[in-house]
Amino acid sequence: MKTLTVALDDRSYPIYISEHLLNNSELLTRHIQSKQVVIVSNDVVAPLYLQKVKQHLIGYDITQVILPDGEQYKTLESLNTIFDTLLANKFSRNATLIALGGGVIGDMGGFAAACYQRGIAFIQIPTTLLAQVDSSVGGKTGVNHPLGKNMIGAFYQPQAVIIDVDVLTTLDERQFSAGLAEIIKYGLIRDVDFFCWLEDNMGKLLARDQEALIYAIEYSCKMKADVVAEDEHESGIRATLNLGHTFGHAIETGMGYGCYLHGEAVAIGTCLAADLSKRKGLLTEVDVTRIITLFKHAKLPVVSPTELSSAQFVDLMAVDKKNVDGNIRVILLESIGKAALPIAIDRLSLIQTLDNL
Ligand code: NAD
Ligand code: GLY
Repeated sequence: MKTLTVALDDRSYPIYISEHLLNNSELLTRHIQSKQVVIVSNDVVAPLYLQKVKQHLIGYDITQVILPDGEQYKTLESLNTIFDTLLANKFSRNATLIALGGGVIGDMGGFAAACYQRGIAFIQIPTTLLAQVDSSVGGKTGVNHPLGKNMIGAFYQPQAVIIDVDVLTTLDERQFSAGLAEIIKYGLIRDVDFFCWLEDNMGKLLARDQEALIYAIEYSCKMKADVVAEDEHESGIRATLNLGHTFGHAIETGMGYGCYLHGEAVAIGTCLAADLSKRKGLLTEVDVTRIITLFKHAKLPVVSPTELSSAQFVDLMAVDKKNVDGNIRVILLESIGKAALPIAIDRLSLIQTLDNL
């Protein structure tokens, strides 16, 4: 088992990565310091893995909340369902919440834990590739608003992240590729060698070669842990983790939550950010082609939806957490392996890029 640490002083926590972790009773209970435990999951993941987790929690007072599956349910209403259950079962402040699912469940479970009685402990058990390499690490929690993605939330760190790669066997190809988008992101923003490794090993990853997969997950978590340790609340470098996300969030909101998967929207958004970086004289045409080729190889979309006009798209981008004083700010790439901090981009440049892809 690999163990990484997210180093945040007294809020530091481990990320465990291996096969068979959902069979490890000692590990599953190591970070639970209460008798009351609530497991939050959804109606796709629970039938697959809830019992597997529960069987190890002997002697705990366990309650479960099974939410409907999907990004469209990442709402305040779902959050309230969690609170209803916690209150109806008289959960105390020392209770522990386990989020068992993909990024939607992880973000909502974490936000519920942050809010309930002003904060209870929580553990992330991410079950999608995307959640394992990105959303379960770093403490961004929250829900969507009809007018903007992830607009309601809190920074709230878990006690531990338990990544069992075995659960990926039940993930379909489309969801698997969505996770690859965030893995490619790390190479683009921080590490050209990792980007080259991905170019060479994408076939193995798509075939779910266990060794390649564990390496990619571990390396991604390491990069995320390093960035979060340096800038937990996103006053600087952490913003680079949002490469492609300003465009991507606009696609998710504009097309309706759940239409494009988050990772798919990020893939398109990153291709748009690469095109914009070329227009600003940072990337070459060859770089942009390499980036688009890798996303295509990962079976991800690279072209923005025709249903959104460029003007609508830019309006949607105006609702983003990176914006300052109403100005749209975007992460650009200085080169493959190096992202720049967010900069304000004029409407005309955005429209030119959107009209091009
Ligand atoms: P998701 O949680 O909707 O999961 C994708 C689908 O896979 C769902 O239908 C889910 O039920 C199913 N599923 C989950 N695990 C499975 C398994 N092992 N086998 C079979 N099916 C399984 O989506 P996601 O891609 O995991 O996460 C996307 C969300 O994460 C978005 O809401 C995004 O905003 C958020 N996110 C958050 C952060 C962060 O830092 N907090 C980072 C990136 C993304
Ligand atoms: N996924 C972006 C972040 O955690 O900052």
